[in-house]
Amino acid sequence: PSIDEIINLHDFEAVAKAILPAKAWAYYSSASDDEITIRENRAAYQRIWFRPRILRDVSTVDWSTTILGQRSTLPVYISATALGKLGHPDGELNLTRAAGKHGVIQMIPTLASCSFDEIVDAAVPGQVQFLQLYVNRDREITKKYVQHAEKRGVKGLFITVDAPQLGRREKDMRMKFVDESGVAKVQEGQDGVKKNEGVARAISSFIDPSLSWKDIPWFKSITNMPIVLKGVATPEDALLAYDYGVQGIVLSNHGGRQLDTARSGIENLIEVVEALKTRGPWPNPKFEVFVDGGIRRASDVLKAIALGAKAVGVGRAFMYSFCAYGQEGVEKAFQIFRDELEMNMRLIGARSIDELVPQMVDASAIHSH
Ligand code: FNR
Repeated sequence: PSIDEIINLHDFEAVAKAILPAKAWAYYSSASDDEITIRENRAAYQRIWFRPRILRDVSTVDWSTTILGQRSTLPVYISATALGKLGHPDGELNLTRAAGKHGVIQMIPTLASCSFDEIVDAAVPGQVQFLQLYVNRDREITKKYVQHAEKRGVKGLFITVDAPQLGRREKDMRMKFVDESGVAKVQEGQDGVKKNEGVARAISSFIDPSLSWKDIPWFKSITNMPIVLKGVATPEDALLAYDYGVQGIVLSNHGGRQLDTARSGIENLIEVVEALKTRGPWPNPKFEVFVDGGIRRASDVLKAIALGAKAVGVGRAFMYSFCAYGQEGVEKAFQIFRDELEMNMRLIGARSIDELVPQMVDASAIHSH
């Protein structure tokens, strides 16, 4: 279909499924084991209801915000998704170019299929980019990578902490991995691709499973970028992250690709925010909480923000948008978010992100378990 026929983010997924080579579709769409968590990521939002306010003069509404102190035109950032060139020849650059044009923040993946410098070079002046980090067994490689990123102007370091081992994404594993085209070439630290394990496992053998809380002071010593732990799932770990002095966490289950039957990020948000209130007034300017997983509608975004998230991350929807239509697809995805945010904020009675409060949602179906 032509891009003009796309009216919501689900439509991109349908197009991507129809046009992508089987291997790419398997890698992007797969989740671990029985794929229960990926389904739950969507379902959890559908258990949360709005409590809209009326008669508030919503002639103008503003959904811009800041993320780690950086301005963003959307309360949504592009989360890291590996191997963009499996789905489109320009790979991650589709995201960079669209994000630069529209003031959206992109998180660059360690396992991007374009090089880190290519992705930074494609940014326009002032464009904000974050870096997603898989920590290498060889810490010198990681140190160089992080310090290079900081030197190149990256504004935040998202350390992925939910992947000491990659989950078994069985759809992907059934596609025997042969990287003839080189699209899966990763930027750094790759120590021998293993065949017959699916794309995900083949490219991830450098990731260090010994990573622990003891490493956090070291990360703080090698960079001045704000540090965010991506893949937190409990209040216990949220409090540890806070006490270790990082700047934020992403409540995430890696798009359902890691521990299957892990709860959804949005479901964990409520108890995490409750726990963080024991450390001081909320919202806390020193600590931001993000949520990702299953976000396909502005209503999902607004629910997360009302419940205390500073912003949300989106992975597959943006990825599918460039698989289907390149940079233009990503721009269209931003436009869909803007249109839906405007309508939903008007209908909820919130004129700005600050006006989204917990009273605007009924999350009792989540509270009660
Ligand atoms: C991911 N994600 C991910 N996360 C990460 O920290 N490093 C990575 O390399 C990747 N790679 C990756 C590839 C693909 C194909 C997907 C779908 C996801 C997880 C990603 O950052 C994010 O947490 C989820 O994608 C959010 O869920 P949705 O928006 O895809 O439902």
